[in-house]
Order: sequence, then structure tokens, then C-alpha cells
Amino acid sequence: MTKTARAHPNIAFIKYWGNTDNRLRLPANPSLSMNLDGLYTQTTVIWRDDLTADELVLNGQAETGAALRRVTAHLDALRERLDIRGWAAVESSNNFPMGTGIASSAASFAALTLAATAAAGLRLNERELSALARLGSGSAARSIPGGFVEWHAGATHEESFAESIAPPDHWELVDVIAVVSGQHKAVGSQEGHKSAATSDLQAARVAGAAGRLAACKSAIQHQDFAALAEVVELDSNLMHAVMMTSRPALFYWLPPTLAVMEQVRRWRADGLRVCYTLDAGPNVQCICVRNDAEQVRQGLTRLSGVLEVLTAGAGGAAFLVNN
Ligand code: DP6
Repeated sequence: MTKTARAHPNIAFIKYWGNTDNRLRLPANPSLSMNLDGLYTQTTVIWRDDLTADELVLNGQAETGAALRRVTAHLDALRERLDIRGWAAVESSNNFPMGTGIASSAASFAALTLAATAAAGLRLNERELSALARLGSGSAARSIPGGFVEWHAGATHEESFAESIAPPDHWELVDVIAVVSGQHKAVGSQEGHKSAATSDLQAARVAGAAGRLAACKSAIQHQDFAALAEVVELDSNLMHAVMMTSRPALFYWLPPTLAVMEQVRRWRADGLRVCYTLDAGPNVQCICVRNDAEQVRQGLTRLSGVLEVLTAGAGGAAFLVNN
């Protein structure tokens, strides 16, 4: 049976950084994100007895290296946990460019998990799919449910899953992404999570995460932008403080990154409803209310050092495409 699934990437308002179990990707803290509409990964899977290994075609190109190994590792986890037999032929493509600061692993492993389990004839519920997607990439757990999503850290595989706290149309927020570098990041999230605990600041960041998550959730529920901006910027700053004080230190910011952050703070002081958040890279994701998004987008395109600006609203859950 061939099955095709689509999933959106997501942007974390409260960040996931560091694991209590690297193999199971049990996170050190709970996190909260918004799916990104319009951007997606589409993945088709067929299980075949006639293959001698898994196959991966990524954006039209046959992969044999690290990308295939990571997909096979995830398929191994699915084979083992769900008793699936055979090898998988996987074809996946993103409709957004790589290297723009939008992590593709969340959408990729969410779509792969849904397509692979459906192609095996399994109908899993959202919670099971989210926990399984987490094994491929932590943030992929958050790309299974729709809209605004909370990932419960959990102490076991079954307890560590994400669920929707509000549908995409609950609040018209827009992520306006200022791309300041198209370079591939030097240190990826996988290694970053492993070094998080080497920072003296990680324990303090983790200790406060549940409180920040509660504040963020309440800001979303009440559509209180000032409260959202405060906690989103604080949480991003805390994660980057941990990164910068890890051993070896991880510096993701570039000079234009700081210029955009500074500009966002000035715009907010002038009354625009916008705040920034950054993942493991130099590009700045500017979260704003829809009415202010166009002004923010235009302002960003005029800033020197900004190479490209992408825009995405709140997106829905991962789903199976008819085939
Ligand atoms: C900084 O989910 O990409 O974007 O589990 O190793 O695939 P892996 O890590 P990943 O980590 C995301 C880190 C982050 C923050 C976040 O999205 O919460």
C-alpha cells in the first residue's frame, strides 16, 4: 500500500533544548509551538519485500548518506515497535528552501511517521503518532497536531507527546522570517541537545520552563500579545544563553541577527505587535499579529543584511493525502 502524508514545520515559542534521554529524545523541558501554514513536507512511503534496504529520494535526488541513515534509524524504530516487516521506499520533498532557518526535520519526521504507519495498514491516534514522530526528531512530535501545540516532556516514551492547545484560527499570528544567512549551520540540533547540560545555565533554564510555558499558554488563550512577546523573547534569549555558555560554546547569532532583534524591539516600542524568536541558527523569526505583519515584512526587506523574507500563518495538523 502506498501512502502520502503532509506535515508543516513549526516554530517554538517555548524552546526544546537538551534531552533527559538522547536515544528516546525525551526532552529536558516541555515546549510549545505554532505550526507554519503554507510550508510543508510531503512524503510517500511504500513497504516492499523485494528491496534489500530502505530507499530515500529527497527533493528529487536519491540519498545514500547521512539523510538515509537517519531515515533508516527512524524506520528501524517503527519496525521494532509496530512489528512492521520489509523495507521502505521513501520519497520526500519540501516546498520550502533548505537553509532558510526553517528546520525541515520536524515536518519531515512527522510526515514520514504518518505515511509509514498508514502504508503498513496501521491507524494510530494522534498521541501515538506524535510520540513516534518524536523518536525521529524531537520537534516532529509538535508537527503532528494542528495549530498551537504543547509537547509534554514526559518521563517515558508513551508520556512524551504533543497535543493541540488551540486550533490554527484561534489567533491570527504570522511568522515573518528574516533570512540573514543561507549557510548550513555548523552544529546541528542533535549535537546541540547533547551539549546543553555542559552549560551552568541549563539547569536554571529548565527549572523555569514550566512557568514560562504556562505564561505563554495563557497569553495565547487570552490573545494577549504583550504577555506573549515578553515570554517568547525571554525563552529564546535563555536558550541562546545556554548555547553560548555550553562547552564548546555555540554562537548562532551573526551581526544582522542582532540588528533585526534590535529593530523588532524598537518597532514594538512604537506600537507594532511583533516579537522575535530564534532557533539553532542566525535567522530571526518575527512573530506578529496579522494586521502588523505586512508592515514588519516591508521593514525587514529594507534592513541591510536581510537576504530574504518568508511569511507563514498558523498551520493545521499532519494529514494523509488521498492516493
Ligand atoms: C532550537 O527537534 O531539531 O529548534 O531531536 O535532534 O531533531 P532533534 O532536534 P530538533 O531541535 C529543535 C531545537 C530548536 C528549538 C525547538 O524547536 O523547540
